[in-house]
Amino acid sequence: MNKLQQAQEALDTAREGVNNRYRLGYHIMAPANWINDPNGLVQYKGEYHVFYQHHPYDENWGPMHWGHVKSKDLVHWEHLPIALAPGDACDTNGCFSGSAVDNDGELTLIYTGHHYVDKEKDLFYQNQNLAVSTDGLTFHKVAENPVIPKPPTDSSHHFRDPKVWKHKDSWYMVVGNSTKENVGRVILYRSPDLRKWSYIGVLAQGNEKLGFMWECPDFFELDGKYVLMISPQGIKKDGDLYNNLFQTGYLIGDYNYETNEFMHGSFNELDNGHDFYAVQTLLDEKGRRIAIGWMDMWESDMPTKEDGWCGALTLPREVTLGENDKVLMNPVEELNLLREVEHNTLTNVISNSHLIETNDDLLEIKAVFDLTNCNAQSVGIRIRGVNQEETVLTYHLDKQTLKLDCSKSGKAEDGVRNTILRANQELSLRIFIDRSSIEVFANEGQATMTSRIYPSEDRLGIEVFADGEDVRVKELTYWKLKDIWK
Ligand code: FRU
Repeated sequence: MNKLQQAQEALDTAREGVNNRYRLGYHIMAPANWINDPNGLVQYKGEYHVFYQHHPYDENWGPMHWGHVKSKDLVHWEHLPIALAPGDACDTNGCFSGSAVDNDGELTLIYTGHHYVDKEKDLFYQNQNLAVSTDGLTFHKVAENPVIPKPPTDSSHHFRDPKVWKHKDSWYMVVGNSTKENVGRVILYRSPDLRKWSYIGVLAQGNEKLGFMWECPDFFELDGKYVLMISPQGIKKDGDLYNNLFQTGYLIGDYNYETNEFMHGSFNELDNGHDFYAVQTLLDEKGRRIAIGWMDMWESDMPTKEDGWCGALTLPREVTLGENDKVLMNPVEELNLLREVEHNTLTNVISNSHLIETNDDLLEIKAVFDLTNCNAQSVGIRIRGVNQEETVLTYHLDKQTLKLDCSKSGKAEDGVRNTILRANQELSLRIFIDRSSIEVFANEGQATMTSRIYPSEDRLGIEVFADGEDVRVKELTYWKLKDIWK
């Protein structure tokens, strides 16, 4: 039996033993066992394909395979056979993260081969490889692998996560890397045919404050500006900033393809919840830039391991450019297809507490608060559960901060995240609750907060509240959402 069949059999067996209590209803997950980064986001022959870092043999990270799903509408996903298994000369110990392109009908995956030199000491080298398919289902690693055998000479051994795109007649690739002195950076390559690559140089480089390694780069034009998304390792916590083990954020500025000069501003986090990492984007046929992240964080508590699975991807988000070069993320419009039953519960009601009883655990909530002439200190939404369980989202009017508190819903330690949100007239919250996740989009993406939560199965309801004084709730609507996996 070959490596792919063996992995698929192990996964099919593991799937039988999965406990459903925290399984998500409308997010991408593997049928069982471990996943991390989204990989190879691409539209191919009219369908959206998403691959992901996957260990089909275990609920913990291990030799990386590529799992695979596809969808016609970014909402209803279908599991496909595992696409890549490691263990060939070009990828001895892992098929690490990478991207996908449609090369004139040939679906091409570009990924990192991981090779241990001494596993105990975590000594390794990494190279870049290709696998191709004409049916979007079965992939063959090409004979030319590795297409980039090693990083430039001034580089550390971190050399991974190629993201490829086409500009004019050339293919370009950004790779996550660091200098010999362990300063994170992104380097750039160019190719006429995806097989032969020439090194162009450094696209962007940090400093000692910006981490020792920049993982999962993605580089694209957005409304005339250029955005470099990166996932740096090693940035230290600074007040409400950089509170997760690793961050995902962006640099934005102007880029010149002729000179490879990228003039950009400072690093900004993309999402301020606990669980958003290794984001990747695609440009779809409608011209939208769509981002999906890994909805977990390295080294965090992952209670679903007990249930035989671990890890999920975020909802697909449309990326747009806001004022002051702020990158915004909002749910793609197709997600409205998930709405099954609409409850329009409040319209223009002045109150300081209103509880809506519902035990649905797949929900979208829209709440709009009028902040003009509002004397409350804070306003917000509580997702209530049994035994004092709650996930609370609070907007502090004076501090202009949005707080997500998951400390009573499975994150007893370090359960709170805060972010600045300048909501002057109105606070508009769009919240997606899946069984074990919450994604918050505030004021049309001015702030997003994504976290995994682990409440008991029993939900009690949704409460809107105001502290100090009343608030005018312009709208409170919620939808029971569909379980796409049933
Ligand atoms: C990011 C990352 C990547 C790597 C992959 C391995 O989460 O560390 O840099 O390719 O995960 O699974």
